[in-house]
Amino acid sequence: MLDRILATLDDSEKAAIDEEEYAVLNAVAEELAAVAPGALDLLPTLQRIQTKHGYLPRLALRMVAEQLGTTIGKVYGIATFYNQFRFNPPGRNPIKVCLGTACHVKGGEIILENFERRLGIKENETSADREYSLERVACIGCCALAPAVVVGEKVEAYVTPSKVEGIITEIEVRKEMAAREQDKNEN
Ligand code: FES
Repeated sequence: MLDRILATLDDSEKAAIDEEEYAVLNAVAEELAAVAPGALDLLPTLQRIQTKHGYLPRLALRMVAEQLGTTIGKVYGIATFYNQFRFNPPGRNPIKVCLGTACHVKGGEIILENFERRLGIKENETSADREYSLERVACIGCCALAPAVVVGEKVEAYVTPSKVEGIITEIEVRKEMAAREQDKNEN
């Protein structure tokens, strides 16, 4: 099924699929093929793909439509209706900016804009190197720390524009140290 869908793409669309995405698409094709079409329900199928792979690749939606015998429009409509779904792969450092009421009042939008500027991506996007992804989320349950941001698993409290810079710098330094450590181990 995947090969058939890939064959309908033009060269630039094919070139946009990198190795990681191709591996996800292959896995989704196998998962879909392992279940009898009549036993698939749209929403649970999308949830399973999202849970397992962290996002819904565009071509995975086409495969789901084909396997369920429905239209891509219907699949896309359901996927975009629920905000639990994302359409870009999560970055290795997923950044979630809280924009619940307390964080909004304390300048959450400005924090989100600062991350967007610093990372060169908009909310719901992933950087080209897949290092960062950025999204806005509703209250994460620690309003006393507003404005709050979750970086990976860690909650960052009282975030300011200068702290945005510090958060990214810390990630970059950690990455650099890990790369040096790996170099050392290989030599
Ligand atoms: S509104 Fe941001 S933690 Fe509650």
